Amino acid sequence: MLIKVLGSAAGGGFPQWNCNAATSRAAWACDPKAAPRTQTSLAVSSDGVAWVLLDASPDIRQQIAATPELQPRPDGPPRNSPIAAVVLTSADVDHVAGLLGLRERQPLTLCATGRVLDVLAADSIFNVLDRAYVSRRALPIGEALWLEHDGAGLGIEIEAFVVPGKIALYRENASEAGTLGTRVGDTIGLEVSEVAGGPSFFYIPCCAAVDATLALRLSGAPLVFFDGTLFRDTELVDQGLSDKTGRHMGHISMSGPDGSIAALARLDVGRRIFVHMNTSNPALIEGSPERGEVERAGWEIAWDGMEVRL
Ligand code: MLT
Ligand code: MN
Repeated sequence: MLIKVLGSAAGGGFPQWNCNAATSRAAWACDPKAAPRTQTSLAVSSDGVAWVLLDASPDIRQQIAATPELQPRPDGPPRNSPIAAVVLTSADVDHVAGLLGLRERQPLTLCATGRVLDVLAADSIFNVLDRAYVSRRALPIGEALWLEHDGAGLGIEIEAFVVPGKIALYRENASEAGTLGTRVGDTIGLEVSEVAGGPSFFYIPCCAAVDATLALRLSGAPLVFFDGTLFRDTELVDQGLSDKTGRHMGHISMSGPDGSIAALARLDVGRRIFVHMNTSNPALIEGSPERGEVERAGWEIAWDGMEVRL
């Protein structure tokens, strides 16, 4: 199984268009220690020919341009794409906006939970993905689904599972105190396998906490891509960027006793890679104390173009 990291930053990318924090400033200044990153998405393939996108980043066009494997086959018909399916983990802007870049009547299979498919169906702009070409497939929770496209198996199996999280920011309902209107299926993680019992990995770009259920699921996993939005829970407040903590945004932080580094330290995970880093996260900067802490704990910070073979 081939995995390509198309993008590794959180919503807004790195640097984010209106961000003047020290991390973003380093990226604006083209500091080689602050490599720019597009918004998070992975591409997965069992044969290197047909590809499945995990999330559709707003930067999808740039990501395809940077990834020859995702470009039309020169020997194919006038319109063709190696992208056969897209699987969404939430309705967040940074996960769905790229769908608009996949219009032009290209046959595709679009998989998401019923909750996320409902959000897309309720917004007529997504009708640009003509249903005559783009089939919608509801992802069951806790049940494996073999991905198919045009009647042919893609050699990839996906299992969606609920992770602690929240409804997309633009769907929050302030009158539902505490939950903001969050329901099952708003945020999921994915286990992606090549064949039953074969190599598999986890992709969890948004996660509010590692609870006992998630810890059990991740125990012994060979590879986990995990939510690396913030290094510290109060990072946005401390930097004067926002009044929101990571907890409020539905993102566990990397550091601290309740952080993801501590939570996964006990779980015998083979390879741990952070994705979805926010523009404020000091671990984005190579050589920073925070990057050192991440690396000493055995984690990697994903970068655009990173490849993993399982
Ligand atoms: C998130 O990951 O919390 C969202 O992408 C935030 C946003 O929509 O800007
Ligand atoms: Mn996001």
